[in-house]
Amino acid sequence: MARNVDTSKELIRVSLASINDYQRIHEIDTLTNISPWTMEQVESSFKAGHVAIKATINKVLAGFLIYEPIISEAHLLSIAVDPIFQSKGVGKILLKTFLDQAKAQDLDIIYLEVRKSNSTAIAFYHSFGFKTDAIRVAYYTKPKSEDALLMSLLV
Ligand SMILES: CC(C)(COP(=O)(O)OP(=O)(O)OC[C@H]1O[C@@H](n2cnc3c(N)ncnc32)[C@H](O)[C@@H]1OP(=O)(O)O)[C@@H](O)C(=O)NCCC(=O)NCCS
Repeated sequence: MARNVDTSKELIRVSLASINDYQRIHEIDTLTNISPWTMEQVESSFKAGHVAIKATINKVLAGFLIYEPIISEAHLLSIAVDPIFQSKGVGKILLKTFLDQAKAQDLDIIYLEVRKSNSTAIAFYHSFGFKTDAIRVAYYTKPKSEDALLMSLLV
């Protein structure tokens, strides 16, 4: 895929992801996550009823967000934007869409875990008002042990 993509004149479209998007979601996860899901984990996430939202630019899937609805809560499981589309507002549109849906569905709280070292994602979540509730010691085991911040946002 071409580098230095100029997305400034393109609309970012948000919609539900489907089975046709598994491969591309897996590809973006592999490009952005130091411990990505396997293709089987992506598939079983869909089968388990998790909700996947995708953002496309010029018909190219640029980023995705996956969450698990749990009664009045939602667990944000994964969000990632292809590096060539990062810092262009795609992540913000995905998270804002998710928050709007959560409000429409009368959810009370969204929570997530993020690696302590992932300062970009932590800054991103702070910009939406997420607060750190706790540290989960050694929550991540791959590629090495790392703590997670447990963050939440009241909807
Ligand atoms: C986190 C992520 C999804 C953000 O997506 P994005 O499309 O690049 O983000 P946006 O362009 O919408 O930026 C939204 C906000 O995030 C923050 N942000 C984005 N990139 C940043 C960076 N490099 N450094 C610091 N803050 C950053 C800023 O607050 C920014 O708001 P601003 O543009 O008003 O300053 C993206 O960086 C990513 O895919 N990271 C790898 C996967 C990951 O770590 N996911 C989270 C796992 S818990």
